[in-house]
Amino acid sequence: MMKAQTAVEINEVLANRRSPRSLDAAAVLSKEDLLAILEAARWAPSAHNGQPWRFFVGHRGDETFSQILDSLVSFNQGWAHRASVLIVVAGVHTREDGTPNKGYLYDCGLAVAQMVVETHHRGLVAHQMTGFDATKAGENLGVDPSLTPIAVIAIGRQAPAELLQGAMLERENAPRERKALEEIVVKGLPN
Ligand SMILES: Cc1cc2nc3c(=O)[nH]c(=O)nc-3n(C[C@H](O)[C@H](O)[C@H](O)COP(=O)(O)O)c2cc1C
Repeated sequence: MMKAQTAVEINEVLANRRSPRSLDAAAVLSKEDLLAILEAARWAPSAHNGQPWRFFVGHRGDETFSQILDSLVSFNQGWAHRASVLIVVAGVHTREDGTPNKGYLYDCGLAVAQMVVETHHRGLVAHQMTGFDATKAGENLGVDPSLTPIAVIAIGRQAPAELLQGAMLERENAPRERKALEEIVVKGLPN
């Protein structure tokens, strides 16, 4: 496991998490793991407790899974077909009074972040994707027009990197990189 290089120790799940593409095509998620992952998302904070997130969960082998897989760009299809589940997160983009819900993307991102942390905490892996056709996903799944599909999350069990080839294999083994704190903390970084 290539741990994130941090100025001080951080939460282990956050330090060790990465977005692998090599997944075990035989792994099945237990009901308990899947429920926990969805609960973690449910309990995310959101503006006015609006909870604009909605999830469409495909289990490898079922129709929903195929419909989600079909909406992915071909690069993502190339590895995500081995996921145990594929989840579309869609957001309620309008408030009850008909005005735009400006913060829905932020809220949905938070819910997915919690989902990802719970997934890795359970020894599984999650890989988010925006490389998908949102219109196609909406049509395939019959998503209500009040919802905008935002991203797809592949969840599964990590497999050896060598299952991949070429550039994908290289990326799988590459160290995780981030901008320096000095670059992202515009003001107020402790010295
Ligand atoms: C919103 C979002 C969209 C992403 N879309 C894709 C994608 O379409 N395909 C892919 O292989 N990885 C995708 N990724 C994974 C990122 O490339 C990855 O998180 C980033 O390189 C950092 O690596 P790490 O998650 O292993 O730390 C996405 C990640 C996020 C958060």
